[in-house]
Amino acid sequence: MSEIKIERCKKIQGCLTLPGDKSISHRVALMSLLCQEKVVAVNYADGADCNHSLEAVRALGAQVEKDNGTVQLTPPNRIADPDGPIECGNSGTTMRLLAGLLAGAGVTARLIGDDSLSQRPMKRIVDPLRQMNAAIDAGEHDIAPLNIAPGLLIPIDYTMPLASAQIKSSLLLAGLASGNAVTIREKNLTRDHTERMIAHFGGSIKVEDVKSRIVPDPDDPRKKKRVLDTEEYKRAIILNGGTALAGGTVEIPGDLSTASYFIALALMVRNSHLIIKDVGLNPTRSAFLTILKRMGANLIIKNRRELSGEPVGDIEISYAKLRSRKVSGDVVPNLIDEIPILAVLAAQTEGTTIFRDASELRVKETDRIRAVVANLSLMGVKVGELPDGFIIEGVEDLSGAELDSFGDHRIAMAFAVAGMAAHGKTVITNSEAVETSCPNFFTMLEGLRL
Ligand code: S3P
Repeated sequence: MSEIKIERCKKIQGCLTLPGDKSISHRVALMSLLCQEKVVAVNYADGADCNHSLEAVRALGAQVEKDNGTVQLTPPNRIADPDGPIECGNSGTTMRLLAGLLAGAGVTARLIGDDSLSQRPMKRIVDPLRQMNAAIDAGEHDIAPLNIAPGLLIPIDYTMPLASAQIKSSLLLAGLASGNAVTIREKNLTRDHTERMIAHFGGSIKVEDVKSRIVPDPDDPRKKKRVLDTEEYKRAIILNGGTALAGGTVEIPGDLSTASYFIALALMVRNSHLIIKDVGLNPTRSAFLTILKRMGANLIIKNRRELSGEPVGDIEISYAKLRSRKVSGDVVPNLIDEIPILAVLAAQTEGTTIFRDASELRVKETDRIRAVVANLSLMGVKVGELPDGFIIEGVEDLSGAELDSFGDHRIAMAFAVAGMAAHGKTVITNSEAVETSCPNFFTMLEGLRL
């Protein structure tokens, strides 16, 4: 167990490039198992979670060679039964995506995780995978360990009851591995890295958005409103049966979720200026930036381009006084991982900020609603807990305090930023949690201090 002491900082300035996106890194590693040729991942994420995905594919017969940030993955001729259980550590993405892939690949495997992952819900993937005929056992409580046995899978047409890219991706990988067609219907759009990577690797996948029309508003005939042709879903993702993946090089953009902590810091500390280069700007991930702009943030995006099928750009941030904005509804799945840091920003924003429709936060690496409420209260902020979010009354200045990461990397990083902006000293206990996604986080943070 380690702790880190953080002093208030007067100004930050700098230019950063960040380790590769975590979600994309997991997908390159896992999907390499299904490719016909070698896969090269440039700027692979350097945290423990993505290492678990690399070790998993190694255990399943792939050859994995790592040289700094570049990983070469040579797929096996046939995915092998692993010799022992596959350790997914703290990584929900490794476990949920791999479960689908292995159920489709017809292998026998046992997936295990750490204490936190072993309490997280797996029914969300187990149920639809069973609809595909997968032989997957998650015990009486539908939690890890997951035991997977060979099964003869069938196609699925699935309307997602929950907005989760992990569920969607688990089913798509089951379809890819078994050669079955998979249609996913999303009521709320979730991150689409799996779909983009299937296309990048030469696979056959179609994405169809439900059409909309403008009609007179029945509540007010002077107004018009946009209605969808169906209310059942917004987007259909259609994977053809027998889709093959070629492989190739994937250049992974910097992780926008990691960038969010540095962006927030530049917005909280007066006179700050920061540039973050080559950051992923996938529209299913970038609602954090949209909300910040609505709050009055000074953000300029330059050098927009595409990298291996993903939009990227450079973000320039200057200090600005923010206005509070409600965070709720369809936008939430699009910034779910950024809510802890958005809560920290809200705590230093004039007015009251309400976060709703975010009950998924309760089943992340820790109960992030509880963790945010506990830590902000210790920093002198009035914060009310809701079943699906919180209400935060902004203060002029946060007070330094002794805070816990609750073993969660995003809580550790969000409150380290809060500590940099707060009066007095802050201590984060269990600070090693940052190793999950960004082992160099504290060094990078201190490097920006002027
Ligand atoms: C992820 C999807 C999200 C996110 C997680 C990574 C992914 O989870 O919170 O950090 O890579 O697919 P859900 O799919 O459970 O919302």
